Amino acid sequence: MKSPKSFYAPLAIGAPQPYRDRPVALERMIHFVPPHIEKMRAKVPDLIDKVDVVLGNLEDAIPADAKIDARKGFIQLAADNDFKDTGLWTRVNCLNSPWFLDDILQIVPAVGDKLDVIMLPKVEGAWDIHYLDQLLAQLEAQAGLTKPIMIHAILETAEGVKNVEEIAAASPRMHGMSLGPADLAASRGMKTTRVGGGHPDYAVLSDEDGAAGRTAYQQDLWHYTVGKMVDACLSYGLKPFYGPFGDFSDSDACQSQFRNAFLMGCLGAWSLHPSQIDIAKTVFSPDPGEVAFAKKILDAMPDGTGAVMIDGKMQDDATWKQAKVIVDLARLVAS
Ligand code: GLV
Ligand code: MG
Repeated sequence: MKSPKSFYAPLAIGAPQPYRDRPVALERMIHFVPPHIEKMRAKVPDLIDKVDVVLGNLEDAIPADAKIDARKGFIQLAADNDFKDTGLWTRVNCLNSPWFLDDILQIVPAVGDKLDVIMLPKVEGAWDIHYLDQLLAQLEAQAGLTKPIMIHAILETAEGVKNVEEIAAASPRMHGMSLGPADLAASRGMKTTRVGGGHPDYAVLSDEDGAAGRTAYQQDLWHYTVGKMVDACLSYGLKPFYGPFGDFSDSDACQSQFRNAFLMGCLGAWSLHPSQIDIAKTVFSPDPGEVAFAKKILDAMPDGTGAVMIDGKMQDDATWKQAKVIVDLARLVAS
């Protein structure tokens, strides 16, 4: 069972509280649904029990001539289903597209309090967030909504990455951010056609090692951006996410990319294909062995201060805080 949706409540027991004033809900996978396809809408009732968040995608991957049907389809799927504890998000079209304004003007009054988060693509600076923030405030007041709709920015342009801290600080409505590696690669002029993941040519060569020669060690293309995004998000109490992984045939590489992001602080990733739901669920839930060790640390230092040795490893106030992050997440998963 997942934790109930609860806005502006603390994440879990006690301090420290990294995601201050943000929703408590578990959001390990943001599952993308193309809402203009009736067959896909029909799968939503089953999805609600399997995923943490259902997202109706209106932006890229939806053909231009299906944009209006996708918007209507999203309003329909929101009306047709009880989402219980599962999040309901939409990814709207970008601000300078012909569809953005109608996406917001039609969806907010029609879906109302059922809508948890709007994912805004191609965010370049705080001004993009300010604009949506004001628009939402006006529409919420007009429709008499009682719960603020949160904003989730996709970090997918060079300018957005440059301005990531201002974006994070732009509004109390900010829920979090996702890395958008496909658009970001294009925006930066990177030489890849992949959606996330590594590239065999992005590697460092080891030194010459006799007969063994030299080995190429592939590097994580997204390390710098994920690190920058995590620091900006956590400085403002927001949630960082890895975005899409486009090679559905390579579950090992997907798992490895998600795991890197999890270790660096991300709380979830997008699932674009049903096979990625379980990958994200496993990766973004703490490993039972790690949880058991983390509990030992908390038990050994009840007030979180001092220094102890556990299994030959030194623990102190800082590792107590690390352990608490893992144990809090495990409690959220179990609740
Ligand atoms: C996601 O939108 C991406 O561009 O990777
Ligand atoms: Mg994109």
